[in-house]
Amino acid sequence: METGGERAKFHAMADGTAEDWAIIGGAFRGFAGGLPDRVLTHLRLLDGDFGGFAIDRLQHSLQTATRAHRDGRGEDYVVMALLHDIGDTLGSYNHPEIAAAILRPFVSEELHWIADKHGAFQGYYFFHHLGMDRDIRENFRGHAHFEACAEFCEQYDQAAFDPAYESAPLDFFEPMVRRVFARPINSIYAKV
Ligand SMILES: [Fe+2]
Ligand SMILES: [Fe+2]
Repeated sequence: METGGERAKFHAMADGTAEDWAIIGGAFRGFAGGLPDRVLTHLRLLDGDFGGFAIDRLQHSLQTATRAHRDGRGEDYVVMALLHDIGDTLGSYNHPEIAAAILRPFVSEELHWIADKHGAFQGYYFFHHLGMDRDIRENFRGHAHFEACAEFCEQYDQAAFDPAYESAPLDFFEPMVRRVFARPINSIYAKV
């Protein structure tokens, strides 16, 4: 992390000047450029985290992304698939929202929605085994992206727990992550 260099002079934002913010803006652009590296580092935290499943969460993420890629999905879709469970480490009770928030500036509204709602749709495949309502996704029936999210879970997410499946390694997806995270298309900070 960058700690040296020029610093703003204000001690309260109300006293800030354009000069101060030119310094901070420059630092922000440098830091934002490191976002793909931080995302990949965080994704690696899922390595070895089995949570009782047959494969760990990193392998599940790689398998979900590999299945989507081999099915001909576009790069932004594949990156969404790769990151859909990245929130597992900090969002024990809302992991889909974390992936959705990280992806939101860089992907379409549909891909954001899939990441955000995949937990409810994935529940179709196991909530009934835990005494929960497997049809909770029906709350979203009729939404423009309902079928797209159902398809993501059916074809890639729920299917990606096979220890015998040969997934592509994280290195394979790295250039895709860098390209998707290169430029925000939807952010109040996009012009900084
Ligand atoms: Fe998930
Ligand atoms: Fe998943």
